[in-house]
Amino acid sequence: MEIKVFESVYEPREDSYLLLRSVKCSSGELVLDMGCGSGIIAVKAALQGAKVIAVDINKEAVKNTLFNARMNNVKIFAIAGDLFSPLKKSLKFDKIFFNPPYLPEKLDEKDVLSLAWSGGKDGIEIILRFLEELPHFLKENGKCFMIVSTLAKLDKIENFLGKISMEKRKISEISFFFERLELWEIKHVKKKTY
Ligand SMILES: C[S@@+](CC[C@H](N)C(=O)[O-])C[C@H]1O[C@@H](n2cnc3c(N)ncnc32)[C@H](O)[C@@H]1O
Repeated sequence: MEIKVFESVYEPREDSYLLLRSVKCSSGELVLDMGCGSGIIAVKAALQGAKVIAVDINKEAVKNTLFNARMNNVKIFAIAGDLFSPLKKSLKFDKIFFNPPYLPEKLDEKDVLSLAWSGGKDGIEIILRFLEELPHFLKENGKCFMIVSTLAKLDKIENFLGKISMEKRKISEISFFFERLELWEIKHVKKKTY
């Protein structure tokens, strides 16, 4: 896979590579790359034969993803918009990948590159808005893979998951001296049958 990164687009780094390692898709699966940036996640899923939709609030990221798709000879449907808003409500995904903005910094809508890392209050504003809609867009047996950082209020995210009947499992992590990045797998809580 070859990836070029446009100037005003998030340059893939440790969080991107942690998420990238979880991309194991089967041919024909419907996959969403939320906050696609350069398209590094979307392109890998498409190379594995998945049908990929990629969304980013940054229009340059959408152009960058389409550029990288062409360079790697794969098809990706990439669209600009805020989280799930540009998607048809009838879509249900097998897998959803999200490397969200998670730093506890105020959002500045005018600075499009800062939207790649500013997660708003407690670093969880974007994540909670994403999770609110996740159950609707994820198939019953679907899985969401999401990066979180210990710089954000992780207990609040965990509480929220309980409220929306979803559960998480930590799959892997990387530690730095100032933070720890974790990769979470998030699924619907299985309904008990008696
Ligand atoms: C940390 S970067 C990850 C980029 C890429 N997925 C990667 O792993 O390298 C977060 C991305 O989310 C996008 N983003 C931020 N807020 C968003 C929103 N409300 N809706 C859609 N995308 C958003 C940013 O523009 C940025 O491209």
